[in-house]
Amino acid sequence: MRKLTTALALFAAVLLFQFCSSTKNAAAPAPPPLTYETNVKPVILASCGPCHIAGQGNKKSLDNYASTKEFADDIIARIQKNPGERGFMPMRHEKLTDSTIAIFTNWKKEGLLEK
Ligand code: HEC
Repeated sequence: MRKLTTALALFAAVLLFQFCSSTKNAAAPAPPPLTYETNVKPVILASCGPCHIAGQGNKKSLDNYASTKEFADDIIARIQKNPGERGFMPMRHEKLTDSTIAIFTNWKKEGLLEK
């Protein structure tokens, strides 16, 4: 009888453990992929204007998906440079933070989605 109780207790413990670990996984789904509309455009509006905003600056407009996608590699190369280096962006501003730069690099890694 004792053996049976121990076996049942063990079985219950295993079940409980599996239940807990599976609910934990369900509570933390993978984050959705980054998109231009949600993640990239706010950074462009905050850091690349007025120079790259249509109607405000005379540089390539980056406040639209098509040209930001087309220039993605150039943008990533430029924001990874340091102030003073040729081609550095955002021109005449401080370097973007690592986490902001990562928005662009991860956006590219995840397929340059629009929304
Ligand atoms: C103060 C104005 C200014 C700001 C702010 C600025 N840029 Fe620029 N950008 C320029 C100028 C001027 C050029 C052209 C000179 C060159 O190619 O280096 C340029 C060129 C570029 C180019 C090459 C295509 C083009 O338009 O000629 C890219 C890509 C670019 N910038 C990205 C960015 C990004 C991304 C940001 C924001 C993180 C940014 N820039 C912020 C002024 C700016």
